[in-house]
Amino acid sequence: MIEPELITKTLETKPFSGQKPGTSGLRKKVTEFQNGLYLHNFVQSIFNVLDANELKGATLVVGGDGRFYNKQAIQVIFGIAAANGIGKVLVGQNGLLSTPAISAVVRARRALGAIILTASHNPGGPNGDFGIKYNIANGGPAPESITNAIYQQTTKISEIRIAENVVGAIDLSKLGVTQFKSFTVEVIDSVSEYATLLKSIFDFNQIKSLVARKDFVFNFDAMSGVTGVYASRIFSDLLGVPLANLINCVPSEDFNGGHPDPNLTYAPELVDKMNKGLFDCGCASDGDGDRNMVLGKRFFVNPSDSVAVIASNYQSIPYFKSGLKGLARSMPTSAALDLVAKDLKIPFFEVPTGWKFFGNLMDANTLSICGEESFGTGSDHIREKDGIWAICAWLQILAVHNADAAKPFVSIESIVHQHWRKYGRNYYSRYDYEEVDTKLGDEVMKVVSDGITDRSLIGRSFNKDGQTYVIEHADNFEYKDPIDKSVSSNQGLRIIFSDGSRIIYRLSGTGSTGATIRVYFDKYEREESKLFNDTQTHLKFLISIALELSKLTEITKRTEPNVIT
Ligand code: G6P
Ligand code: ZN
Repeated sequence: MIEPELITKTLETKPFSGQKPGTSGLRKKVTEFQNGLYLHNFVQSIFNVLDANELKGATLVVGGDGRFYNKQAIQVIFGIAAANGIGKVLVGQNGLLSTPAISAVVRARRALGAIILTASHNPGGPNGDFGIKYNIANGGPAPESITNAIYQQTTKISEIRIAENVVGAIDLSKLGVTQFKSFTVEVIDSVSEYATLLKSIFDFNQIKSLVARKDFVFNFDAMSGVTGVYASRIFSDLLGVPLANLINCVPSEDFNGGHPDPNLTYAPELVDKMNKGLFDCGCASDGDGDRNMVLGKRFFVNPSDSVAVIASNYQSIPYFKSGLKGLARSMPTSAALDLVAKDLKIPFFEVPTGWKFFGNLMDANTLSICGEESFGTGSDHIREKDGIWAICAWLQILAVHNADAAKPFVSIESIVHQHWRKYGRNYYSRYDYEEVDTKLGDEVMKVVSDGITDRSLIGRSFNKDGQTYVIEHADNFEYKDPIDKSVSSNQGLRIIFSDGSRIIYRLSGTGSTGATIRVYFDKYEREESKLFNDTQTHLKFLISIALELSKLTEITKRTEPNVIT
């Protein structure tokens, strides 16, 4: 068959304002992306910052979480990629690839990078959100130097190069290759390369024995996101979980009207079943598969504890058999992981919010396991956080603790309690105030940052019911990357008390409407008698201090947060 020539055209365009990538790419309402050449502008801007020689003949991975507008956007990307010199695009079947799977494919196929179409855990559908993000050759999110350069391009873009006969010409439902002259699209299986990687990390036979136990029931909720496709192949086909225990596993363009964020508020169906004690382990993942929530029977594993428990049980996971290089967490994540690093005598890093900050440390071979309070957990097997990986890690740890089938089942709760007994417990919670008027959000942050700048916060003390908190340190977190020495400032306001307790204020970088104010609370307890209290009760006074210091209720008139983690 003769390969068709590319019919390349130049479209004139004008910049759209506001195409600045946030914590994790550009996220806007679908309707904004559908506006004229909005998407085209951003995609062309990505290619404009890449070196033309590097682009020539290179491989690019493209895929998304299956949300509304995914398939149309992919066809546009094919056309612009072809006209900009890309030699080959690998795309997931039906346009589906989870964010961690994309990272795995980029690394395995030595691709130049990837364009990921997702707004992660934000709702989808015609009135929902859409998102686009660029990942680099290590499989991780582009660093700020690149995302800023892309943004600069969006402010002055005037032309788009597009191969028009490519757009719409590829049937995404069929595996296989479509060949043009000097450009190829390969529709790949969404799961197989990622599953192969997981098989090389975990002992699947051991997990299978756990799953086969009569006294162990596992349940997974894909929240109608992309992981449904992965769950049926990995949890069911490879690990033997009955299909009936995998729920909401058909990817839907609007996540079945839901909010695909695995937390206590947005995964009510699973949380309810776990509270009723129906299963021993219940897990969920977000729209694009990088987040995870792990629940035991009537027990919530806080993400900050989750990464610490995985790290302290690293020997259960074959991939880590030669030891851990280092551990890292984002600044607002609880300090539980710090204690494990200290105990293991390995390097430890505190980075700003955003997975991209872990990539450099991994590439420099100083980081093995890391996590964030925002339900992100992962390792250096790829350069994105990885929901299915985290769930497999927990299954593997459970399998090791339950290797003897004749002994009673060791639960998730008892594994976490064991951890607290050894290291002490970091009581931890996060309050989210969503869709706050942007001005009011800034005002709240200003009240705190003024107190930091004029140092009036230092030394302030708060007393109630025999509890005393004294502010010892307050700052606006700044990070200097130890590898490339780049500096990221303005990464969250920290109030640190003399007992090590912390309050942190941040504005979310992933929302698409108004401002989301996040307030984080972290309080450490070592005494056995204080290890098993209710989190909200235990943190009550610290939380009231946080509200008082920021005048949050007064300014926003919000008396309750939308989400409590
Ligand atoms: C995304 C990033 C995470 C980050 C999270 C925080 O999920 O991949 O690395 O922790 O956003 O979002 P926020 O809304 O708090 O900026
Ligand atoms: Zn996500």
